[in-house]
Amino acid sequence: MNENRGLNRRDFVRGAALLAVATPLGGIGLWGCTQKGSLARTAPGESTNVPWKTTIVAAGEAGDPLIVSGTIYSPDGRTPLEGINLLVYQTDATGRYSTTGGNNRDTRIHGLMRTNSEGRYEFRTIKPASYPNSRNPAHIHAYVSGPNYPEYWIDEYLFTDDPFVTQEVRQKNEGKGSFSSLLTLRRGDDGVLRAVRDIKVERCTNNCTGK
Ligand SMILES: [Fe+2]
Repeated sequence: MNENRGLNRRDFVRGAALLAVATPLGGIGLWGCTQKGSLARTAPGESTNVPWKTTIVAAGEAGDPLIVSGTIYSPDGRTPLEGINLLVYQTDATGRYSTTGGNNRDTRIHGLMRTNSEGRYEFRTIKPASYPNSRNPAHIHAYVSGPNYPEYWIDEYLFTDDPFVTQEVRQKNEGKGSFSSLLTLRRGDDGVLRAVRDIKVERCTNNCTGK
């Protein structure tokens, strides 16, 4: 997955800008895509348009519907934080970031959330797939930022039932409970997969995006 880190913020924003041109409004969420370089950095109060709960795929997007939710906490792991940005992006159900470019620089499925007063976030999407002809586990990339927290990336969201997830990753997540980046999927009566991941915000170290 390391090569995916090559999709940095600049690339992401560029891809998002392309998407904004190519995709009619009303489909995929395009929050802030025209705010160059500021997509996930807006402090609370600067914009009222960033939801805590969103849908990042257009209706009819192929794939298994999935809702991921959680709470973002302060570094103590107990105090929910309001106003923390969570930016996520992923492949589609064929393992591609774009149906037009075929590479990870035209990310099509993405979304930005900002936690509410309870620290909550939620996004509705489809379950991503491994890159075509690869053994990379399916994953969802994520950036976190907020007041006093420069943007950084967190471990990708992965899925416990994915055979490509390594033992090393599984061991790393053992005992983390709801803070695990390995999602346990449960399908509801409505047929939708659901999973929870809580996050402890931190000051970035070697995973800062420089934004
Ligand atoms: Fe990736």
